[in-house]
Amino acid sequence: MTVTGSGAGGAHTTETGTPVGGTALTTEERAADLRLDQLRQLVGLVDYDASRDPFPVTGLDAVVFCVGNATQTAGYYQLALGMDLVAYAGPETGVRDRRSYVLRSGSARFVFEGAAAPGSSLLEHHERHGDGVTDIALEVPDVDRCVEHARAQGATILEEPHDRSDDHGTVRCAAIAAYGDTRHTLIDRSRYDGPYLPGFVARSSTVARTDGPRIFEAVDHCVGNVELGRMDEWVDFYGRVLGFINMAEFVGDDIATEYSALMSKVVANGNHRVKFPLNEPAVGKKKSQIDEYLEFYAGPGCQHIALATHDILAAVDTLRARGVEFLNTPDSYYEDPELRARIGNVRVPVDELQRRGILVDRDEDGYLLQIFTAPIGDRPTVFYELIERHGSLGFGKGNFKALFEAIEREQERRGNL
Ligand SMILES: [Fe+2]
Repeated sequence: MTVTGSGAGGAHTTETGTPVGGTALTTEERAADLRLDQLRQLVGLVDYDASRDPFPVTGLDAVVFCVGNATQTAGYYQLALGMDLVAYAGPETGVRDRRSYVLRSGSARFVFEGAAAPGSSLLEHHERHGDGVTDIALEVPDVDRCVEHARAQGATILEEPHDRSDDHGTVRCAAIAAYGDTRHTLIDRSRYDGPYLPGFVARSSTVARTDGPRIFEAVDHCVGNVELGRMDEWVDFYGRVLGFINMAEFVGDDIATEYSALMSKVVANGNHRVKFPLNEPAVGKKKSQIDEYLEFYAGPGCQHIALATHDILAAVDTLRARGVEFLNTPDSYYEDPELRARIGNVRVPVDELQRRGILVDRDEDGYLLQIFTAPIGDRPTVFYELIERHGSLGFGKGNFKALFEAIEREQERRGNL
């Protein structure tokens, strides 16, 4: 990993070098039977000194999606991705205009919301963006302190700090604006023991599944696509407002193909549970995949969510059998002697990876295995990544070119290249 900058949240140790604070297991991680050593491996969790962080973030609380049909989407994520339904709100619970389904896999929490009546505010969002992420909610120990800092740094406060209560206790929350129509809800649920938020009722999975291992354990990172020329502005926003540090940096030629290019920088919270790569299009001969996203999402938004898995081979086999489509990787990728030499020994023979189209990348800290799905909705916008880390805290820089060429072949088939 290359740490290229250091915000106030960038201190990983005290002056004496002792790791402190910030990395106790979260309630969600304990509930998912995850261990700290697993999380160091899975998502690159590191120790850091939260007392010097102006905007301490414990971890990702939830990824909230607005979709065209939340009822069917919730079924799909249970059937295909093996997630568990845990909570629900809708007309039956007194929310007239929407249905919200809360699903879990390990420490990851996804919420799918759809309009349940004409005039719902969700319809406007969906008409503009299609299925997509509305909110990347962050768990913070002190909502008021974060909002005070965010306001002083010029952030747009969408919701002032307030309490929401029911029989299970009280959550404190607020929301700040991020890129496009995306927001970050800030939430302190330390005084709450309900299934999600006040107003939600517990629900268990409606789907009969054979019980196998979980397909994924946690969210590793969420990527944002922003407008041409605005990536540095958003990197600065995450540093200044949220105290995030800059991680590995990929620019220009690193990820350019003959036709399209992008610029990408990565910001992370102090303990690295929350990692946000930010992309902007770069000038290529033809329309880049970032341009295509910005056109079809009608502006900036969350491009992909990387899911951390212990066993990417089993995950890909299971997901393919359930109809999930992945991007193809050309055989030339695996047969390239330079690549073979660079990746060295990984935990399985390369032909096992080739058979599944799994990509591999290595840096000074170790290696990672990764694969990308096709877009999950009707528009060529949001997709998923599966990632299995073995020491590497990178994002697959060496694979970007191979990935882009694969994406461009798909773009060409859609007539958008
Ligand atoms: Fe990624």
